[in-house]
Amino acid sequence: MKKTAILLALAALLLAGCGTSGSNDDSCTSLVEDLLSRMTLEEKIGQTVLYTSDWSVTGPSIRDGYIDDIRAGRCGNIFNAYTAAYTRKLQEVAVNETRLGIPILFGYDVIHGFRTIFPINLGLSASWDIEAIEESARIAGREAAAAGLHWTYSPMCDICVEPRWGRISEGAGEDPYLGSLIAAAMTRGYQGDDLGDENTILACVKHYAAYGAPQAGRDYNTVDMSDRWLREFYLPPYKAAVDAGALSVMASFNELDGVPATANKYLMTDILRGEWGFDGFVVTDYTGITEMICHGNVTDAKDAARAAINAGIDMDMQSAAFSDNLAALIHEGKVSEKTLDEAVRRILTVKAKLGLFEDPYRYCSEERERELTMTPENLAFARRIASESMVLLQNDGVLPLRKGQKIAVIGALAESADDLLGSWRGAGEADKVETIVDAMRDYNGASNIIYARGCDEISDDKSGFQAALSAVSRAEKVVMVIGEDCQWTGEAASRSSINIPGVQSELLERIAATGKPVAVVLLNGRPLDLSAESQMAGAILEAWYPGTMGGQAVTDVLFGEFNPCGKLSVTFPRALGQVPIYHYAKNTGRPYVHPDAKYESRYLDVVNEPLFAFGHGLAYTSFEYSDIELGGSGFSGNGSLSASVTVTNTGEREGTEVVQMYIRDLVGSVTRPVKQLKGFQRVTLAPGQSERVSFTIDASTLSFYRQDMTFGPEAGDFKLFIGGASDNVKEASFNYSL
Ligand code: BGC
Repeated sequence: MKKTAILLALAALLLAGCGTSGSNDDSCTSLVEDLLSRMTLEEKIGQTVLYTSDWSVTGPSIRDGYIDDIRAGRCGNIFNAYTAAYTRKLQEVAVNETRLGIPILFGYDVIHGFRTIFPINLGLSASWDIEAIEESARIAGREAAAAGLHWTYSPMCDICVEPRWGRISEGAGEDPYLGSLIAAAMTRGYQGDDLGDENTILACVKHYAAYGAPQAGRDYNTVDMSDRWLREFYLPPYKAAVDAGALSVMASFNELDGVPATANKYLMTDILRGEWGFDGFVVTDYTGITEMICHGNVTDAKDAARAAINAGIDMDMQSAAFSDNLAALIHEGKVSEKTLDEAVRRILTVKAKLGLFEDPYRYCSEERERELTMTPENLAFARRIASESMVLLQNDGVLPLRKGQKIAVIGALAESADDLLGSWRGAGEADKVETIVDAMRDYNGASNIIYARGCDEISDDKSGFQAALSAVSRAEKVVMVIGEDCQWTGEAASRSSINIPGVQSELLERIAATGKPVAVVLLNGRPLDLSAESQMAGAILEAWYPGTMGGQAVTDVLFGEFNPCGKLSVTFPRALGQVPIYHYAKNTGRPYVHPDAKYESRYLDVVNEPLFAFGHGLAYTSFEYSDIELGGSGFSGNGSLSASVTVTNTGEREGTEVVQMYIRDLVGSVTRPVKQLKGFQRVTLAPGQSERVSFTIDASTLSFYRQDMTFGPEAGDFKLFIGGASDNVKEASFNYSL
């Protein structure tokens, strides 16, 4: 062990307690201050640097230059390196071969699972099952931590009403209330209540802020919106994750109000630290610092580094702008050393809280990696949450299928293992995945499944149509698996159309014309325009990209082993021209009331209503709602009002319903949405069973950014809606006085 490493170990011993259960902040503080006082300028800058590792055919690898940087203390953080053995190797370089032995922080995109892959996040959000979503993050964190990782770039908190944007698949949909609950749950899942626990990892709130609102849905494009809209609809999920204890935040690529987030002091310092009290560190998104040269708000990389750190950025992912320029900027007085110290302090404090100074190898255990990864429990959970995430958009009775029925399965996606994992599939491996058609064969008997590819998802090749039609002619029912290639969603995967690509719909039309009952299973990562397909198919099951156990989960739902209960967390338009379309729209001065009136806020060629509304989703049973019962005619001040409905399962099988509550403030100092989600509950009911579901409305339910930008309620009359979808609700009225 080097002399310096021994010194560090001594310091750690002296300050033992930081990063372990029951650790106290004071012990972390003294450890960090002691280190800071001994660091050279170059070593400090090194802690603000994050470089990527690579993955070659033989396994993980790192560029020679980066290894030299680690050794010289010029790079304190690495992402994309994993496996217990490999991270240990790199950690040994940092601990034993650098002057101060400061451990490396290892980050990775663990977005919807690490090895066991869960549905894409848009799918997870459609489960509306907050506890299960938290559990999915806990499992992902445990698997990742066992592979040597400390830090995930999740939760992705970008509210989005723009289906052209490929990254809508990575978020929780359109709604800030649901999105906030999910952001907080995922943060709790990853971080647990003790960051020093070897099974938990650090969360990173991204992409701060408003990355989900790029103009025209083009990735990385300009974002501009009023401060009021930003605060009411876009910021809440980021804040919820910060409030839940997330200790890192990622700046988004986009500009906001003319200033790229990476140099946006209003976002990074005034709101994040000033208003929200965030005390972790902020990392850029990839080369966000040098990208500002293209944005056009800085002259060169040096100027960009200055703008970023002075705005509140602490760590530079991959651009090398900090490592190349901070020393000179400090010597020239353009950045104060105090600013750098503050960034380093924040980063080291998080490393201390992770327990890395006590034992830099605590996350690198090959034994734990073997034991905790893709366990039968993790896989069983993945199967359940995948089923829960699926949304039955329509069903004329073709579903559920009956075991033993002869089923034609059509579509290239039915035999794709890879697509089931979706984008950002962590370290998930397609060879561990059973395809939909194989899972159906396993369940229904191979001889009862007649598979034909028909066509793929992208090309115009119709040469497989005939074989598909022949398969259909030999079957009782048809399951057609169609949608998007998973690489058509995620980062840099914007589309100018939201139709089902290629000739898939044409094949569906030909199959539907045979008169055989058809159920469509959709694999996709965005709201699609399904207006044509909804006319052709008897049933449509939105399965998103359901993850490692997706094949089995789709089978469970198709055959009724699992009664679908997902509800859309994002509106599905009936035409791209309706976009942006979302349930919290305003009324306008000329609301759309009369189908034939010209001078109303409407389209000439399409109705205003979406094809499938926010909150929509069917089951193999039905639910009836009583009228709303209110605890009074209203309430005042800090009081509250209860609102309940009785929900009855009127069908023949047990089912789960997501009971949703919306409100409308009829007159405000600023105009208010005609409906806004304010609460929901999941209830599971046996056939014939009724349950009274109650909500409490208080001042916080009614609060918003008033005209003077203060946040709070206003007196007046309100409408209340409770139901099983935003467009299928019971209605009541109440008033509120201050
Ligand atoms: C993405 C981030 C991701 C980062 C690191 C970027 O391109 O925008 O979401 O966390 O890469 O992989």
